[in-house]
Amino acid sequence: MKPREIIPGVLAVGAQDFDRRLFDALIPLPDGTSYNSYLVRGRDKTALIDAVEPATLRVLEASLKDVPRLDYLVSNHTEQDHSGGIPWVLERYPEAQLLCSQPAKPMLVDHLGLEADKIRTVADGERLDLGGRTLRFIYTPWVHWPETMSTYLEEDKILFSCDWFGSHVASTELFVDGVECVMAEAKRYYAEIMMPFRKIVRQNLEKIKDLDIRLIAPSHGPVHKDPSSVIQAYRDWTDDRPHDLVVLPWVTMHGSTALMVEHLTGALVDRGVRVEPFNMASADIGKLAMSLVDAATIIAAGPTVHVGPHPALLNSIILANALRPKARFASIVGSYGWAGKMVDVAKAAMSNLKVEFLDPVICKGMPRPADFAALDKLAEAVAGKHRELGLIK
Ligand code: FEO
Repeated sequence: MKPREIIPGVLAVGAQDFDRRLFDALIPLPDGTSYNSYLVRGRDKTALIDAVEPATLRVLEASLKDVPRLDYLVSNHTEQDHSGGIPWVLERYPEAQLLCSQPAKPMLVDHLGLEADKIRTVADGERLDLGGRTLRFIYTPWVHWPETMSTYLEEDKILFSCDWFGSHVASTELFVDGVECVMAEAKRYYAEIMMPFRKIVRQNLEKIKDLDIRLIAPSHGPVHKDPSSVIQAYRDWTDDRPHDLVVLPWVTMHGSTALMVEHLTGALVDRGVRVEPFNMASADIGKLAMSLVDAATIIAAGPTVHVGPHPALLNSIILANALRPKARFASIVGSYGWAGKMVDVAKAAMSNLKVEFLDPVICKGMPRPADFAALDKLAEAVAGKHRELGLIK
């Protein structure tokens, strides 16, 4: 696509990647993604904000073919999907100054092999006059890496936020209007890469709360014309208070755990508790991560394989442990054939979670009436905890 005008003098010059289906060799991308890059023209100077993923560099090259001079290249974030094109940009525009946060400088050297003396750092709050247009740099660490900053175009009230407020969506639409999946994909993106830094993300929200923002132009997905919606969503996602929700990743080999999950799900629903089960044999881990954003309780259910949990279940526990969600309670459900340490291994794998453990329910072979009664007791305990938090009546 050709460069598209956000407002006169501010152009989207990045690339849409409709075909990409996996990020970081881990994260499913059902709607593709984009690597956004923005050209800001002042009266005297021109700046490019972020470069693109190297695989889509030809799009940036084509977009900039009629731009004879570039004064500044702003790198908001070092990850290669935004910085990979920087070496080409600097070669094409040797006069351009590369600007980044102080922590970003050594990272750009490490990841891209750039020479340190070619990089100029900007301070938190520093302004850059382009002639009638002023860029203000705002340090916003951990959205997504420690060096991340955002760039605010003061006169036009546009926040170039890089990863945060972004969504993995490829679209021919420049603005969010009409792209129905954006808020869900923004949540998926927050869940997968920013949830572990929830408290710092909240501090960043505080930092921008008095900023007059008309548009948010992130580095992935379309531009937000109604910034308050996505900002409010971030406030909810980063808030300490969970929702009435049990996330239930589960696996079964010969059906015992499936029976237990079916019974437990029904018992929870009967008590007014919302449940989202994920069969880890086929689940989209992005959806599991989205569920973990809100969940008050995590219950992992599966069979014992050798001495520990089924590896597919353990994978979901490791993911939850890495994402450090706000959940308050956890438990383990499953079956075994002759022996095992499933509960010990699963608990140890949840060491980052600040949760109260509710009594596990582990049965030998297929579940029997006493096991179903134990599952009812677990459901009652979960409902009681959710009630104490005021999540259900
Ligand atoms: Fe889209 Fe953290 O890079």
